[in-house]
Amino acid sequence: MPRRHFVRGMSVLGLWPLTQSPGLASEADAGVEPAPVGADDPGYWSWVRQQFSIPLDEAYFNTGTLGACPRQVLDAVLESMREMEKTIAHYDYRPEHPEYIAGYRAQEELRKKAGGILNANAGEIALVQNATMGINFIANGLELKSGDEVLITDQEHPGALGPWDLRAKRQGIVVRKLVVPVPTPDPQTVVNIFAEAIGPRIKVIAIPHVTSRYGIIMPVREICDLGRARAVFTLVDGAQAVGQLRVDVKKIGCDAYACSPHKWLLAPPGNGLLYVREEREKEIWATLASAHWDDYTPESGLFRLMQYGTGNEALLDGLNAALDFYARIGPERIERRTLGLADSLREGLQKIKGVTISSPLHPALAGAIVTYGVAGVTGSQLQDELWNRKKYRVRAQAGPLVRQSVHLYNSPEEIAGTLEVVRSLAAS
Ligand SMILES: Cc1ncc(COP(=O)(O)O)c(C=O)c1O
Repeated sequence: MPRRHFVRGMSVLGLWPLTQSPGLASEADAGVEPAPVGADDPGYWSWVRQQFSIPLDEAYFNTGTLGACPRQVLDAVLESMREMEKTIAHYDYRPEHPEYIAGYRAQEELRKKAGGILNANAGEIALVQNATMGINFIANGLELKSGDEVLITDQEHPGALGPWDLRAKRQGIVVRKLVVPVPTPDPQTVVNIFAEAIGPRIKVIAIPHVTSRYGIIMPVREICDLGRARAVFTLVDGAQAVGQLRVDVKKIGCDAYACSPHKWLLAPPGNGLLYVREEREKEIWATLASAHWDDYTPESGLFRLMQYGTGNEALLDGLNAALDFYARIGPERIERRTLGLADSLREGLQKIKGVTISSPLHPALAGAIVTYGVAGVTGSQLQDELWNRKKYRVRAQAGPLVRQSVHLYNSPEEIAGTLEVVRSLAAS
């Protein structure tokens, strides 16, 4: 059995050795309700589930669109806004007063903390509003001329496709869309597709880390290796990856990485991170310009790319709290739990006649998103049946498919319930 599968299986069965997650020891000091001691026992995960405002008789499987915020994240946002409204007459008049508006400050501390989850320095991180904004900043900011080629996939989210199409229409760059086979058989097949496509005119490779529709974990490291060997700029769209998988941008070896912490990292909507490797930062022009658009001082780092004018500081407080929550549960534990549950969903679905799984089954490609369909049932019917019979929220895709995103607020019982509904639909 591949090691990754073995590890996932152990955790779902509760056999994983218990480890203390960062933050657990200090919960009492922080005034937060302490979690049960066991790391992978049902009591622990039921405590985790109770941190969310979703009614307990509903199951949320649409993190691929938007993650749910834990209560402590929501509280941080609301408290921040309440405080601002109470004291607004003093802000701007007292130097010691906390900052209320985002968009004018370098936010070094938060950038350092956010960079920590990607293995990046504070200076290599820009706080933006989502992955779409980050990808646009790279696509628009790179010096490219007519005829230069950009390699992308046919699996891009519109937020990762549009920025390149815009430059193609306006300035004549050439966007080449490589077809990733679905279901994707193995990582090498994908790497070979890229290796064969790279020619002398390729200036950029822009790929998703985890694809939106089928949840394919792309072999980003190997593809970035191909790019680096030819000095091609590599951008990875991590909208579906950060918070689902542990991400190390240095190990991936990409030049830029954009993500949306409001999905799997469970931050409030309107938060984005953009990483650019220090050595290549100067190649990116600012797209939005305010006071610091041309600030290339080393200590400012990517503050140049945070010049969006007045923003909501409370959302950054929410991001800060989401980073704390992530650290508190533990990235490894989250990954183990969610991938383990998704594996059990895949295994169950494979045993049901009439079910097609469009997401990959290869352990290196398979993540916490499972996209599947049942013969004779449309995606919307399947979506509705899961809601009507069980109050489970999956997301219908075009055609006969649904996408089920499995996160830490989901449980083995909900996976069993999903399989029960699918079994009954497949038999009818
Ligand atoms: C792979 C991928 N990239 C980019 C995006 C865009 O994310 P956002 O709307 O947060 O910018 C999404 C959203 O679903 C996505 O799945």
